[in-house]
Amino acid sequence: MDDETPILALLDEPRRLVNDTLRRYLDRLDHPRALHDAIVYALLGGGKRLRPVLCWYAGVAAGDDGRRTLAPAAAVELVHAFSLVHDDLPAMDDDDLRRGHPTLHIHAGEAMAILAGDAMLALAFDLIATEPAFDAQTARRLFVELTTGTRGMICGQVYDTLGGFSDELSDRQRLDLIHRNKTGALLRAAARMGVIAAGASADVLASVTRYADDAGLMFQIVDDLMDVRESSEHVGKRTGKDVAAGKLTFPAVLGVAGSEREIERLCQSASEAIAPLGDRARPLGELVRYLARRTR
Ligand code: IPE
Ligand code: IPE
Ligand code: MG
Ligand code: MG
Ligand code: MG
Repeated sequence: MDDETPILALLDEPRRLVNDTLRRYLDRLDHPRALHDAIVYALLGGGKRLRPVLCWYAGVAAGDDGRRTLAPAAAVELVHAFSLVHDDLPAMDDDDLRRGHPTLHIHAGEAMAILAGDAMLALAFDLIATEPAFDAQTARRLFVELTTGTRGMICGQVYDTLGGFSDELSDRQRLDLIHRNKTGALLRAAARMGVIAAGASADVLASVTRYADDAGLMFQIVDDLMDVRESSEHVGKRTGKDVAAGKLTFPAVLGVAGSEREIERLCQSASEAIAPLGDRARPLGELVRYLARRTR
C-alpha cells in the first residue's frame, strides 16, 4: 500500500500536509546519503499516518484549523516509524514485510535499520525544537508528551517481547498493560500534543485524553484481529504471526467475538468522551469509527 492510498476523505488533508512537512524537514538535514535514504524508505514509503491525523483532529477539536499541529504530528510519526523499524528487527518480531515493502533491515541491513531508527527518534525532538511557532513553554509541554509516549511505547515493547509482569496479574490485565503502553501511549501523546499545540484548556485536554486512551487500546485490539483475519498482501505486513510467536493478544484471550465486543465498547466510550466538545470534535468521532472498522 502506498502512502497516497485513499482510506477516508477526512484523512487526506492532514496526511498530505504531514508528508510535505516530513519531506521538507528531511531535505534540510545533512546526513550520509545511505542514512538519509534509509530514513526516507522507512518514513515515507507507505503508512497510514494515523497518529498525525489524530494529532491534527485533536487540534481541530481544540479550536485550531489543524495547522499548528503539523510539527508535533510529524514528530510523532518519526517516533512511530522508529518503533516499527525496531519492532521488525530479528531480535524483536523478525518480520520481513512492512508498509507493503521489505522491512528496512532486509532492504538496507541490520546495522542501518538500528541506526536509522535511532536517528528518527532524535529527529522527532529536533523537529519540535526547531519549529518557530511554539514558545518555550509550549515546546516544553510537547517534549514532555512525546517523551512520555515514547517511554510508554518502549515499556510496552518490553512487556510484549520479554514479559516481566507481576505474578498476580491476570492475562486480561497483562494484555491491557501491553496494549495501553506499546500502542496506546503514542496515540495518547499524538492527541494530547494536538490539544497543547492548539493552546486549549485543561477541560478539552481531559476529554481528548479519555478519547485517545479508549481509541489507543481499541487500535491494538484491531491490529491483533487483523493478524488472525487478514492476508499479508492486504495489510502490507506479515499476518498470522502472533499465534506462531505465542504473543499475548486479545483474540487469544477473549476470542474473536469477545475482541469485537471490546472494540465496540471502546469505540462507544471514546465517542462519549468527546461529546462535550460538540461539533468541533465530529472528525474525532468519525476517526475512531473508522479505526474500529479498518482492515489494514
Ligand atoms: C502498526 O501501526 C503498529 C501498531 C502499533 C499496531 P499502524 O497500523 O498505524 O501502521 P502504519 O503507520 O499505517 O504503517
Ligand atoms: C507493535 O505491535 C507496536 C510497536 C510499538 C511498533 P505489533 O508488533 O503488533 O505491530 P505490527 O503488527 O508488527 O505492526
Ligand atoms: Mg511487536
Ligand atoms: Mg510487530
Ligand atoms: Mg500486530
